[in-house]
Amino acid sequence: MSLLSPYPAIGLNGAVVAVTGGARGIGRATAALFTAHGAAVTIGDLDEAAAKSTADEIGCSAVVLDVSSRESVEAFLAASGPVDILVNNAGIMPLGSFLDEPDNISTAQINVNFWGPIHGMRAALPGMIERRRGHIVNIASLAAKMPTPGGAVYGATKHAVLGLSTSVRAEVAELGVSVSAVMPSLVHTDLGSGASLPGPLSLEPEDVARAVVDTVRHRRAETVLPRWLGSAVDMTQLLPGGVVDTILRVGGLGERGLAAGNSAERAEYRRRVAGQAERS
Ligand SMILES: NC(=O)c1ccc[n+]([C@@H]2O[C@H](COP(=O)([O-])OP(=O)(O)OC[C@H]3O[C@@H](n4cnc5c(N)ncnc54)[C@H](O)[C@@H]3O)[C@@H](O)[C@H]2O)c1
Repeated sequence: MSLLSPYPAIGLNGAVVAVTGGARGIGRATAALFTAHGAAVTIGDLDEAAAKSTADEIGCSAVVLDVSSRESVEAFLAASGPVDILVNNAGIMPLGSFLDEPDNISTAQINVNFWGPIHGMRAALPGMIERRRGHIVNIASLAAKMPTPGGAVYGATKHAVLGLSTSVRAEVAELGVSVSAVMPSLVHTDLGSGASLPGPLSLEPEDVARAVVDTVRHRRAETVLPRWLGSAVDMTQLLPGGVVDTILRVGGLGERGLAAGNSAERAEYRRRVAGQAERS
């Protein structure tokens, strides 16, 4: 523990790390980076085949996982070992207008995006607190900080994840365990396919992975990505609503919002999420 941090340091080499939704996208890049630093990583994913092939490629372990089920999350963490670092990353973003979104798609987003981190933290924290060593990263989104027309329920789940993270962080801070929220702008993954934002606002999964791994060192409560956007977003909280609406319109996030179009990749992603919602 340093004078500046209430948290016992966690060295990456040999750390036990669990990453949800690790088969692809941000989870995959994060698992690969922790593995490259010498951590013992387990990824969990609903897509068992993809998880196993990702694990083979990056040299970590994989188990099937549904983050919306507490039992499944507990089994995942039991398979991972005594976790030092849990990354609650699994998420879905179907997109579409609020009024057109079927209830089962809204429910699936709440169950995966919000209940996932709740189950993850409730399952991992007791052991971390007992060992007085642990760090949790919740992957929220820039959508946690601003309106998300075209993804209203998605944005609401991410606001909820941020609120959950900062509150749980305060509850466990004195117990040697930290909780950080990472809030990326648009990332080039299946989930983000078809959506577009101006170039400087877009990220690669590896950019997010670096920021996640960095939280183990600095343990900040909130990280907006790209980093330069963080203060700009905080400033909008001080502006009158009309100015914020104008900024959203100019940034291409007006009424059209996060429309993702009908590319083949987007259609495939929509099919996957619809199937997931029907089965749950
Ligand atoms: N891509 C973006 O633009 C972006 C931006 C901000 C935040 N995020 C967040 O980052 C996280 C990862 O997103 P991504 O872009 O890498 O998505 P992705 O679709 O590329 O990967 C997500 C992975 O999670 C898995 N998954 C879905 N539901 C699951 C469940 N119930 N249990 C276990 N695994 C499940 C999927 O099978 C998939 O492998 C999400 O929480 C997302 O909301 C993404």
